[in-house]
Amino acid sequence: MKALILAGGSGTRLRPITHTSAKQLIPVANKPVLFYGIEQLRDAGITDLGIVVGETAPEVRAAVGDGSALGVEVTYLQQEAPLGLAHAVLIARDFLGEEDFVMLLGDNFLIGGLGEFVDDFLTSDAEVQLLLTEVAEPQFYGVAVLDAQGRVERLVEKPKDPPSNLALVGVYLFRPLIHEAVAAIKPSARGELEITDAISLLIAQGARVRSRMVTGYWKDTGRLEDMLECNRKVLETLIPRIDGTVDDASRITGRVVVEEGAVIERSTVRGPAIIGRGTHVVDSYIGPFTSVYHDCVIDRTELEHSIVLEQCTIRDVTRIEDSLIGKNVEVSRSEESPKAHRLMVGDHSRIRLG
Ligand code: DAU
Repeated sequence: MKALILAGGSGTRLRPITHTSAKQLIPVANKPVLFYGIEQLRDAGITDLGIVVGETAPEVRAAVGDGSALGVEVTYLQQEAPLGLAHAVLIARDFLGEEDFVMLLGDNFLIGGLGEFVDDFLTSDAEVQLLLTEVAEPQFYGVAVLDAQGRVERLVEKPKDPPSNLALVGVYLFRPLIHEAVAAIKPSARGELEITDAISLLIAQGARVRSRMVTGYWKDTGRLEDMLECNRKVLETLIPRIDGTVDDASRITGRVVVEEGAVIERSTVRGPAIIGRGTHVVDSYIGPFTSVYHDCVIDRTELEHSIVLEQCTIRDVTRIEDSLIGKNVEVSRSEESPKAHRLMVGDHSRIRLG
């Protein structure tokens, strides 16, 4: 069995981070979202992975490489534009060959293994198996309608008037039959080849499409609030570890990971929190549910319930909460007169001054 991971597309809801970076690489507890999916596939025994990449291909390649560090073998499949989930399957035709495969959306975050879900499919006679979960706002997802036997009767992509509250989670299991459907459908009103249309075609032809409910935790990491929630979930399960340096004047409490080469001086870190490799925390307070990635400087600052990406410098700021801060960002206090907020901020940024 093979796997197809979709890591192309563009993340409009996480702009400005996704203007320049792949949303699938935003770290949750200092590990890119995409890596969680890759590890779950590997743990389910699937190591032959095709990764569909778009504009951010160089960044995804740099992070994942040939996959060997994660125990998998990766083939990159370039998609010229985000033309839809079914389009991704279409361009992966040669890679997938005649094998059954898992399709995983690279920005989806799942806690719990995929093994049982995969085994269940392989021992069944179904052509497609979908993973579903109940959601409060089904209009933002693909929505499924089930018959009395629990088989999928109908699928609609982001319906204005949702026929159920059962959303499609970004894990799909397919037999090679899907390739015929993907080749037969036409682009939807929004100009994409929809995987829901391809599956609907199979249903109309009498194929068996079954579903399972998510048993663990699932989130589409499309929005800031979702990223922070995933970060909280993972940080809560951290095994504390100090591989960096903590001076005697600092206090570390709760679940805290200090990665190699990180330095904590005259600071308090209250877990759950993770401080990335090479990061310096000086005269600062890092509060619960905070992830600071590699090579940052946090100086005379209070930071809580936030994700900070690599190479940021944050100085003399009280206090930052509920934030996602992109790569190489500098936040500091200015002594210049007149007293004012002085900003150089990317397009689509969101700033809330307290
Ligand atoms: O998160 C679950 C939802 O994911 C499902 O309920 C929907 O049925 C499904 O269409 C999808 O909706 P999204 O709006 O979240 O899809 P998004 O455009 O964010 O794409 C999902 C992933 O696939 C993301 O990592 C980008 C990648 N992608 C997307 C497209 C359209 C590609 O690699 N190529 C593409 O052409």
